[in-house]
Amino acid sequence: MEDKQGWSGSPSLDSYAWGDRTRIIVPTSPQSARTLPLVCRPWRLWHRTTHCLIGSRKASCRKYVVVAAIVVVLVVVYSLRESSPRSFLSLVLCSSLVRSRPPESVFRCGGSAAGMVEGGGGNSTLRPHRAPPRSPENKLRDEPKVLLFTETQYSKTGKAIANILVANRIKYKMEVLGRSLPGLTNLSRGKYGAVVFENFERYLQLDPWNRELLDKYLRDYSVGVVGFMPAREDTKVGAKLKGFPLYVHTNMALENVSLNAENPVLQLTRAGGTIVGPLLGTDWTVFTPEDPTYIPLEWAYPAVTHFSEERLITVILDQGQLDGIPRVLFGGSLDLWLHRLLFLDAVSYVSLGRIPLTLDRYILVDIDDIFVAKKGTRMTTNDVHALLESQKRLQEMVPGWHFNLGFSGKYYQNGYPEENEGDHTLLDHVDDFWWFGHMWGHTQPHKLLQEELEHQMQLNKDFAISHGIPTDSGYSIAPHHSGVYPVHEPLYAAWKKVWNVRVTSSEEYPHLYPARLRRGFIHRNIMVLPRQTCGLFTHTVFIDSYPGGREVLDRSIHGGELFQTIVYNPISIFMTHLSNYGNDRLALYTFESVVKFVKCWTNLQLRTVPPLQLAEEYFHRFPDEADPVWGYPCADHRHMQIWAKEKTCDQLPKFLVIGPQKTGTTALYTFLAMHPAILANYPSPETFEEVQFFNGKNYYKGIDWYMQFFPVPANSSAKFLFEKSATYFEGDMVPLRVKALLPSAKLVITIISPSKRAYSWYHHMRAHSDHTALQYSFHQVITSTDKHPRPLRNLRNKCLVPGMYARHIERWLDHFPASQINIIDGEELRNDPIYVMNDLQRFLGIQPFYNYTQHLRYDKRKGFFCQVVGDDRTKCLGRGKGRVYPPMNESDAKLLKEFYQPYNIALEKLLTRLDYPVPGWLEEELQ
Ligand code: A3P
Repeated sequence: MEDKQGWSGSPSLDSYAWGDRTRIIVPTSPQSARTLPLVCRPWRLWHRTTHCLIGSRKASCRKYVVVAAIVVVLVVVYSLRESSPRSFLSLVLCSSLVRSRPPESVFRCGGSAAGMVEGGGGNSTLRPHRAPPRSPENKLRDEPKVLLFTETQYSKTGKAIANILVANRIKYKMEVLGRSLPGLTNLSRGKYGAVVFENFERYLQLDPWNRELLDKYLRDYSVGVVGFMPAREDTKVGAKLKGFPLYVHTNMALENVSLNAENPVLQLTRAGGTIVGPLLGTDWTVFTPEDPTYIPLEWAYPAVTHFSEERLITVILDQGQLDGIPRVLFGGSLDLWLHRLLFLDAVSYVSLGRIPLTLDRYILVDIDDIFVAKKGTRMTTNDVHALLESQKRLQEMVPGWHFNLGFSGKYYQNGYPEENEGDHTLLDHVDDFWWFGHMWGHTQPHKLLQEELEHQMQLNKDFAISHGIPTDSGYSIAPHHSGVYPVHEPLYAAWKKVWNVRVTSSEEYPHLYPARLRRGFIHRNIMVLPRQTCGLFTHTVFIDSYPGGREVLDRSIHGGELFQTIVYNPISIFMTHLSNYGNDRLALYTFESVVKFVKCWTNLQLRTVPPLQLAEEYFHRFPDEADPVWGYPCADHRHMQIWAKEKTCDQLPKFLVIGPQKTGTTALYTFLAMHPAILANYPSPETFEEVQFFNGKNYYKGIDWYMQFFPVPANSSAKFLFEKSATYFEGDMVPLRVKALLPSAKLVITIISPSKRAYSWYHHMRAHSDHTALQYSFHQVITSTDKHPRPLRNLRNKCLVPGMYARHIERWLDHFPASQINIIDGEELRNDPIYVMNDLQRFLGIQPFYNYTQHLRYDKRKGFFCQVVGDDRTKCLGRGKGRVYPPMNESDAKLLKEFYQPYNIALEKLLTRLDYPVPGWLEEELQ
């Protein structure tokens, strides 16, 4: 919910100069048809003229006959002159109509200078906060989080706070207050840089023990509190806040809110004036301090004026001079847009800047679909001039501002004559804008093969060259984001080959909604930036027909969604369309207005740079985003619309055997593959039976590459595709990646004694002639320290780390519910595979049930169960499995038992918690 207040000096309808303007238009609605002069409504003219000629002899009828004659003459002349339409256009009466003047941005900041913002964006740097103490033992961790106490997990203000934190990439931990506080420190480092109470009364009501604990943390680590006063049923008048020199009056109705410019909290926020009008709700709390160290941040007047004419404090700063803990208290919720800004400032202030804010913001406005729009909705010469003038005005407020024009050459000169003239005028001013190639015919790339894509791109490039349009921006975008995400590999390849594209942008990664989660990634060396929407689409061409009405657009500009997008995102690329610049020129109105509003109410420094620079800046700021996380395309209908038709999620595995290595995973893989309804992945030329997609370089090859390892469903009767990659188990990023791509996949884990696993793995490496394993004894490997050479340390880690089972399983459980994970005792698999496989079939829900009794038989010679392939014959795993090596010596066994003890204790607890029996080997290890 956004607030619905007005603003002092904000553009009310009366603030606009409305005038006449001659424009081309094709009537798209009865309403717009009514504004056409009669000559441009040929059907009416024809009707009246024939009526006159046939029946009537009235003098007024002569008028219609004369007008009709003029039109006929003009059409004939026009046809004759078609070869040079540019000079003739202005004569064609039918191409014009009288329309109201498009809206212009006339916002005045704080009711001051006309048309322009005064003093906006004054601070170029942040004011320094009070320096944090240097005491080495009371340091916060790097990137401290916000600790957010909410009423419930779903409470409204709590969610609004969390959303703002996410949008601003501020890490947080959400807690519903219970009997005890969460851990506040880790290895004596403070975890939290600010503590936020959705309901400040909960802080006041903390029991003495917890209150003392929390306040001690806040004092020791120089951290403060941000709190919101809750809406209450009972009204408090002049009630004292327990333990504070502060009185509150609740359930107030207020109006005309403004900020106190003189306070140390404002960094991002600027005291832009007065928000005129009643504030939403009648549940505001106002504060009256009785101590001079309390500073008002925000004031408003009572809406019911007989109560008082005085302005009342709605947000207040307790500087913490009395008890060493700074606090910012809000008397109203985040429904008021201004509170969202103040909240960010407050969080940063109480953290002493350790939860930092930045003030520079980059904005780039793309105009997609240049030349593409339908006849009657395109730009005329006047519109192009208006665009240039607007660009100039914007450049004064936003250094570097250039509209970034994306063209599709196929539709050049495809409008009405005056619009075709507009096309020419755009090209006359080619050097005044930035340009990028859209798709030649605006086709969706995911529908085309690489060769076709290259051909289309080449046509557009040839068009650019022949019309003097620059081709070196290194930027492009795809119609409807098609092919960018989910990735259509041929698009990336063709872009690189024809246009040398280095940067693109999309609103689809990871999803269109919620917008606050949109991020960037790099694929095939092309940087994909998140793209923002500004509420303008191809069909938003007149302000009167703006969805929800003009006030919806104005609300978005004046503190609403568009304004917040710029405030929250250091880098915003906005998508607009050609049609937003003709007609009512809504885009010019929108951007000029929002820029003025941002400069009025914030200290943000706005600027524009070309896409390549922008992308470099983006990934410099957010290096963690460079790596993509491939999501499941079939959960998002928009993704499905821009994913190649022949692709299907049925070609993705339904379950994974994730390891770890040397626990019997190959035997399990083989037994599973025997099942008629189960199909394993095709082998890989590099990694044999394992695909190893989620854990290494292969991941960057994308999901098209991954899907090649599975049959197209139409060519296979097996319903259950799976793959086994035994190193997935301990890979740091793997659970998150698997969850993103295969959210409902089931996971199978096998475990044996971790010491035994480590020893088996060491011999496996020796058998594979691993240089380091051959060089060092098992004892040397497991006892090596961080002082030893890197290859030895790496070998040690790979040998020992997978056996810390509980740690890894917990990581998987962070992403998957226990119901999707099956943990198999590898010893049981070895000794009683029939029981294990039956159990596994039930867990996987596989039909038909496969009777393994008839298909597995113990092979005495091998000492394992093997596949029955004939009456007397079995097929066992290769020589690589069940190798013969000397038993582990006792001292190494003892060392490992000690090493794994804490992990084994955790494993026993974990298995019990998840309702698994404790394996015999684990009981032994714990004895
Ligand atoms: P060893 O080779 O040390 O005896 P993985 O396939 O995960 O690498 O695990 C290999 C281990 O699986 C082997 O370790 C072997 O002990 C065990 N295993 C369990 N059942 C087996 C079977 N039916 N055939 C061969 N090896 C099996």
